[in-house]
Amino acid sequence: MRLRERAMKTRQAITIVTLVGFLVGAVSCMAEQDVPTLKDVLKNHFLIGGALNGRVVTGRDSLAAAIVEKHFNTATAENDLKWQRIHPWPDQYNWEPADSYVAYCEKNRMAIIGHCLVWHNQVPRWVFRDDSGNDLTRDVLLTRMKDHITTVVGRYKGRIKGWDVVNEALNEDGTLRNTPWLRIIGEGSEDKRYDYIEHAFRWAHEADPNAELYYNDYSLESSKAKCDGAVALVKHLKSKGIRIAAVGIQLHGSLTHPSVEGLEYAITSLAATGVKVMVTELDIRTQSRGYRGADISRVSRASTSDSDAASAETQKKLAEKYAEILSVLLKHKKDITRVTFWGVYDGASWIGGSPLLFDRSGQPKEAFFAVVRAARESR
Ligand code: G3I
Repeated sequence: MRLRERAMKTRQAITIVTLVGFLVGAVSCMAEQDVPTLKDVLKNHFLIGGALNGRVVTGRDSLAAAIVEKHFNTATAENDLKWQRIHPWPDQYNWEPADSYVAYCEKNRMAIIGHCLVWHNQVPRWVFRDDSGNDLTRDVLLTRMKDHITTVVGRYKGRIKGWDVVNEALNEDGTLRNTPWLRIIGEGSEDKRYDYIEHAFRWAHEADPNAELYYNDYSLESSKAKCDGAVALVKHLKSKGIRIAAVGIQLHGSLTHPSVEGLEYAITSLAATGVKVMVTELDIRTQSRGYRGADISRVSRASTSDSDAASAETQKKLAEKYAEILSVLLKHKKDITRVTFWGVYDGASWIGGSPLLFDRSGQPKEAFFAVVRAARESR
């Protein structure tokens, strides 16, 4: 081929590639514009959000940030406000990750949720021990709890809308979980069994009287006994005049649970105590074998990974389950103030499989459109 012909062909090829690139860009841009916004379709019903990790709020995960900024009007810190992260040593607070989270949410005008003040997981060992490694006395542990709550809630006073004050305090049968909080502060005595929870709520209220305070737990939608335990806890707090605004049903579901009946039981019995109900950690594992709860020591990405996750059949089932859950939540929207996904897209979830509405490249899945349909069908 002569030199001039070759140059012409090269120019033509470049033009074609550029045009194709432009068209693909334009089409995907139009497609992007066509994707409805979750916070718009749900705006008359409840807040909608996700759990954010440090990579999102510092801009290192731009895929997640784009989803968050388009779709969510509320956010929960996935890990950055947990005791271990924010208060790793007795006199040392690590504010930077939490400050970045709060600043990011404010910049994007999202309702900010604090998770969590008192939990048995992700608490450094020193919290429960004295210098010789023995369990603390009740009074010393109460003082540590008070200092922590007062300092952390106080720092974000007026900025964090609501706090998961106590997280996962119940066993599956509704009794109180045997944690160091219960053992040491409750001193094994029946009349002190709710003491640590009462104190936590009182101190959180003192630190920010306008913040909403929540109790948060998993399996409330699948274990009636556990849900009844949460109802008893709320009634107890209310009988003592302690403010509690809502109970968080975490709702780590699967393709086969919760049942509509179980979810409705949880919403109606919790709401009957006079609190609001929130879905605080929504995701659906596509691999449903084995343990159903959300105890991190029993669940991991590996234990929930699913080689069929991307199949059309699994995605259809996922969409159906999300649609079912959303239609129950929308039916009870007078009692529900917020729904938060536990993560933003599949690649950044704490579990494997295909648990969220956006796939590993950030694209909305069939489940996303099923949620949008359910919202649009609700009046
Ligand atoms: O950041 C450290 C990193 O520095 C270190 O190298 C690495 C080594 O293991 O650990 C990293 O911390 C991990 C952290 O997630 C951030 O990725 C912790 O080990 C890991 O235990 C932690 O898991 C979190 C888990 O709670 C325990 O706090 C999950 O991300 C988080 O999704 C999960 O969320 C809980 C809710 O708070 C309560 N309800 C159940 C839900 C799922 O378990």
